[in-house]
Amino acid sequence: MRATSLFILLISCSAALAQSFAADNRIDSKELRCLVCEKSLEELTKEVEQFDPDKKVDVGGYTLDIDGNYRHKSVPQAKSELALSEAIEGICDKMDNYIRAKWKENGTLTLLSMISSEGTMSPDWSNVDIIQDDDLNKSLKYYCEGIMEEHEEDIIKLYQEEHNDIPKKFCFKQSNLCSKHVRREEL
Ligand SMILES: *[C@@H]1O[C@H](CO)[C@@H](O)[C@H](O)[C@H]1NC(C)=O
Ligand SMILES: *[C@@H]1O[C@H](CO)[C@@H](O)[C@H](O)[C@H]1NC(C)=O
Repeated sequence: MRATSLFILLISCSAALAQSFAADNRIDSKELRCLVCEKSLEELTKEVEQFDPDKKVDVGGYTLDIDGNYRHKSVPQAKSELALSEAIEGICDKMDNYIRAKWKENGTLTLLSMISSEGTMSPDWSNVDIIQDDDLNKSLKYYCEGIMEEHEEDIIKLYQEEHNDIPKKFCFKQSNLCSKHVRREEL
């Protein structure tokens, strides 16, 4: 009797182990791209929100003011193609702060920020299983750089047009990076 239940326990343990390894290998690159899209644009949005609202950037050319004087044409920093482009340039470095993990609760892939915005350890640590990250080419930064290279112009345009909720708009609608794989929470 004892032996049997021990045997069953062993079997189910190894089954669980085998399952979790199999699951790790089955990371869907589309799913990962979608998550990286969201996280990198969330980071970019944070960065743009920190731009000084009073700071203007010359965009070349002149404009007439109400007194009839020529003035340099300028836009707020948050609408400046140059400033946005510079922010995009550095944004993928932020991905080094994220690791791939799965929620223990439902096995769904997620990207966990190792350090929260308050500078403390992420409170979600205990709720996830970390996934080993040994293939550099599949690193989150690599995915991020691919997205930024391909879509930089569209992303700049979105910020210039002052849409709110840019990560969702860009990743799920405009770029279709998230469309092929619909996460349950989006339904
Ligand atoms: C990783 O990327 C580099 C540069 O793009 C490439 O030369 C190399 O073959 C890639 N390695 C793998 C395992 O895909
Ligand atoms: C999985 O669990 C996490 C944490 O509770 C939750 O945020 C997420 O929405 C869940 N995903 C699905 C597909 O149920």
